[in-house]
Amino acid sequence: MQKTNAAITAVGGYVPEYRLTNAELETMVDTNDEWIRTRTGISERRILKEEGKGSSDMAVPAVLELCRKRGISPEEIDCLICATVTPDMVFPATANIICNKIGATNSFSFDIMAACSGFLYALTTATAFIESGRYKKVVVVGVDKMSSIIDYSDRTTCIIFGDGAGAVLLEPVEENIGILDSLLKSDGSGSQFLHMKAGGSVKPSTVETVLAKEHYVYQEGQAVFKFAVKGMADVSYELMERNNLTADDIAWLVPHQANLRIIDATANRMGLPREKIMINIQKYGNTTAGTLPLCLWEWEKKLKKGDNLILSAFGGGFTWGATWVKWAYNS
Ligand code: UT7
Repeated sequence: MQKTNAAITAVGGYVPEYRLTNAELETMVDTNDEWIRTRTGISERRILKEEGKGSSDMAVPAVLELCRKRGISPEEIDCLICATVTPDMVFPATANIICNKIGATNSFSFDIMAACSGFLYALTTATAFIESGRYKKVVVVGVDKMSSIIDYSDRTTCIIFGDGAGAVLLEPVEENIGILDSLLKSDGSGSQFLHMKAGGSVKPSTVETVLAKEHYVYQEGQAVFKFAVKGMADVSYELMERNNLTADDIAWLVPHQANLRIIDATANRMGLPREKIMINIQKYGNTTAGTLPLCLWEWEKKLKKGDNLILSAFGGGFTWGATWVKWAYNS
């Protein structure tokens, strides 16, 4: 008997209007367009500027778009999982807030925090819910308002990150398509290289923590880079090997958009040419949990039923992983 698989059946996305260009960053910190483009591949990123708006405000249009495309009402959603490191509030979960805003009154909802790998962790969790047979419509959101935790006087981090949201709908299928395999990894010893120092239970927010700028992203770029290059390439290759996939079998690599050099290293290890890689880092920067679904959103029209996609990510935690998706529909 054919086992029930979880297939992506619709995609939505949202990026804010405001474009923070390399030229504007040159007026804010000691940097230049050439350095940013050659070291990262980024030319501009989107920033959610409006006062009082948070991650849920970007997730809502993304989820409503996928509902519209699939012709379903938010009330039909059984479960919504939101991957983010920039929740609207420390609690409750941003997923709860999104469901309330869109009228997903029959959905239970929760957040997953695995930084840049958050979307893959949430997708894998949602897949198990669908495969169990218990739920029929599970939405996975990847969203981050990175501008809310970036120090715009720190040139080593402010040039990298941007804001954005993407979402996918998972539904059961009785065909050999959908999310076919996933390999997730984590190593907490890496937390020293990429974290936020204050605002958690170890070091609650105080006037001193604010003055010391401890509520911003702290990153030791070179150390993270070294682990990211190896982690993302190794896990993607391991996933290919264990499923007997060759480079010819793969239609698209969907990589986390942290640095073009990390993306290239991953693709090289997998033996994939540039034209098979989804790259939009130049216009959105690193949107953390948003990068992978934003790629799917942008490339959706080019994807064909049966295409093999490898989604791959590395981020804070450290967390990393890769997922094999056999695309389920033609747009
Ligand atoms: O998505 C979550 C996971 N995060 C990542 O995957 C990020 C991984 N790391 C990176 O992408 C890179 O390490 C960065 C883009 C953050 C930095 O690039 P790098 O090639 O590792 O640069 P570096 O830190 O080795 O710095 C090289 C030089 C330094 O100057 P000196 O010491 O050689 O004189 C930096 O001070 O570049 C300098 N520098 C800059 N110069 C101009 C650092 N940032 C800038 C800047 N503009 N924005």
